[in-house]
This record gives sequence, structure tokens and C-alpha cells, in this order.
Amino acid sequence: MKDLFDIRDQVAVLTGAAGILCSEMAEALAEAGAKVALLDLNEQKAQEIAERINGRGGTALAVPVDVLDKSSLEEARDRVISEFQQVDILINGAGGNKKEATADDERSFFDIPPEAIQWVFNLNFIGTVLATQVFGKLMADQGSGVVINISSMAALTPLTRTVSYSAAKAAVSNFTQWMAVHFNHEYSPNIRVNAIAPGFFLTEQNTFLLIDEATGGHTPRGKSIIDNTPMKRYGTPDELIGAVIWLASDGAKFVNGAVIPIDGGFSAFSGV
Ligand SMILES: NC(=O)c1ccc[n+]([C@@H]2O[C@H](COP(=O)([O-])OP(=O)(O)OC[C@H]3O[C@@H](n4cnc5c(N)ncnc54)[C@H](O)[C@@H]3O)[C@@H](O)[C@H]2O)c1
Repeated sequence: MKDLFDIRDQVAVLTGAAGILCSEMAEALAEAGAKVALLDLNEQKAQEIAERINGRGGTALAVPVDVLDKSSLEEARDRVISEFQQVDILINGAGGNKKEATADDERSFFDIPPEAIQWVFNLNFIGTVLATQVFGKLMADQGSGVVINISSMAALTPLTRTVSYSAAKAAVSNFTQWMAVHFNHEYSPNIRVNAIAPGFFLTEQNTFLLIDEATGGHTPRGKSIIDNTPMKRYGTPDELIGAVIWLASDGAKFVNGAVIPIDGGFSAFSGV
């Protein structure tokens, strides 16, 4: 039993690693003994997190990357390989929404600029596909590996207002299944691709939708989320860790193409 979730000395690459959710994952993977490569557009923040992990006796490397630029991903891959020699785990964490791509009182659906729709779709979907091309090729060549994508509740049934984000995360879930099958059919039965679908976690990207700036209380949308989450609260980033370690390890050896909700019961509740 004690080896079931063992990921010691595995090399994990995380995109969006300087973000709220993925930095928490990176710290946990490092604490579990994995070597972690923190890839992010925000190099300085990734560096700070890497230093924190290294200062605690872990092994971390910060690497600047733009997940929308394949040559930037290839440069990052070369840095990771020269430092850690291999890649066992890829977490595609870079993603998010932005206000300009959200239908609200200031901007109706009809006025959302195409560039904003594209920005959100590209970051979540194309960024996941390109990183999987670059790091997944290493897995195909070595005949083993684990990919964990980050989907969302918005993928299961679309959330109001977030038109492009919902579409992009649905595409991420679909790609998770597609890639799981493709790796197994074409390259190796020992490569697994799964996703987690976090419920609602208060982070920089969604605070504007969930917390009323003036009062500090819930917006009507925030209240609706809490009302529809049977556990009656937002999640905290550390609550994703158990599933991530499980999916990364042999504990999930026969789990492939799955999208795991981590949502306090939100997706199980019909609202009635
Ligand atoms: N916060 C939530 O409630 C929630 C719920 C479901 C899913 N998610 C998803 O989880 C993931 C992480 O979310 P988070 O809340 O930690 O977000 P975050 O904004 O804290 O982190 C995202 C990170 O991605 C980086 N990034 C942005 N564009 C990039 C690019 N082009 N190349 C490389 N890095 C880039 C940012 O610098 C940032 O560090 C996202 O995919 C998000 O959509 C979040």
C-alpha cells in the first residue's frame, strides 16, 4: 500500500505553475518527492515559488514559457530535459477567463469582441494542446507518462456569462478523452491522460464575478454557487492535491480519459 501513491523522483512539468491552483499542486508534488518544473508566463513568480520549494529541501526549476507559442514550449522542454533528463507528469494548468469575454450588464453577448473570445479559447484549449504536443512527444518516445488537464464545472454544463471559457473547457474535457485514446492506440498503453474539473475556488480570475467589490459579500452569482454546492462553500486549493497525486501515481494506473469533479457536490445537484 505504501508505494501505491509513490511519485518520488518522478519529473513533473506544470504550466501555469505560478498560479493559485497550480503553485499549490507544485508544492505538494515536490513535498511528495517529485522534481517539479514550474512553467509560467510570469517568470518572476515561478522563480519565487521554485525558491520556496528548493528552500524546503525539494527540487524545483522555474522556466519561462508562453503556452501559445510552440517554440517557447520547445525551449522550456530543452531546459527541463537538460536539468531533469526526463518528463513523467505533465499538468496543463495555464488557463483562465477574463472580463472582456464575459457577458454582463456592461457588455451583452452581442458586443463581446472576437479577440476576447479567441484569447480565452486559445489560452485554455490551444495552450493545453500545444503543451501536450511538446511534452507528450517525450512520453510517446519513452512509452510512459501521465497528463493531467484542468477542466471545469463550465465544461459539464455551461455556466452563464462565461461563453468562451465554457466552450474552451468543454474542449479540454473532450481533448482529454481524445488524447487518452490516441496515446494508447498509437504509442503506448502506459500513457494516461485525465483531467480534474474543479468546482468553485475563489481566485483572482473569478473574484470579480463572485464577490461584490462594494460590500465584500457574495454577488448574486456567488450566492447561487454556494446555494448549488451541497457542501455550502468554495473549495480551497489544497483540496485538489489528493486527486492530483492519485492521478499522477500508480494509484490511478487503470484510470484513463476520465474527468474527475472536485466540486463539493455541485455537479451532482440538480438544484431541486
Ligand atoms: N479558480 C477556479 O475556481 C477554477 C475552477 C476551475 C478551473 N480552474 C482552472 O484551473 C487552472 C488554474 O487556475 P487558477 O485559478 O490557479 O489561475 P491563475 O490565474 O491563478 O493561474 C494561471 C497561471 O497561468 C499563467 N499563464 C497565463 N497565460 C499563460 C501563457 N500564455 N503561458 C503560460 N502561462 C500562462 C499565469 O501567469 C498564471 O500564473 C486554469 O486552467 C483555470 O481555468 C480554476
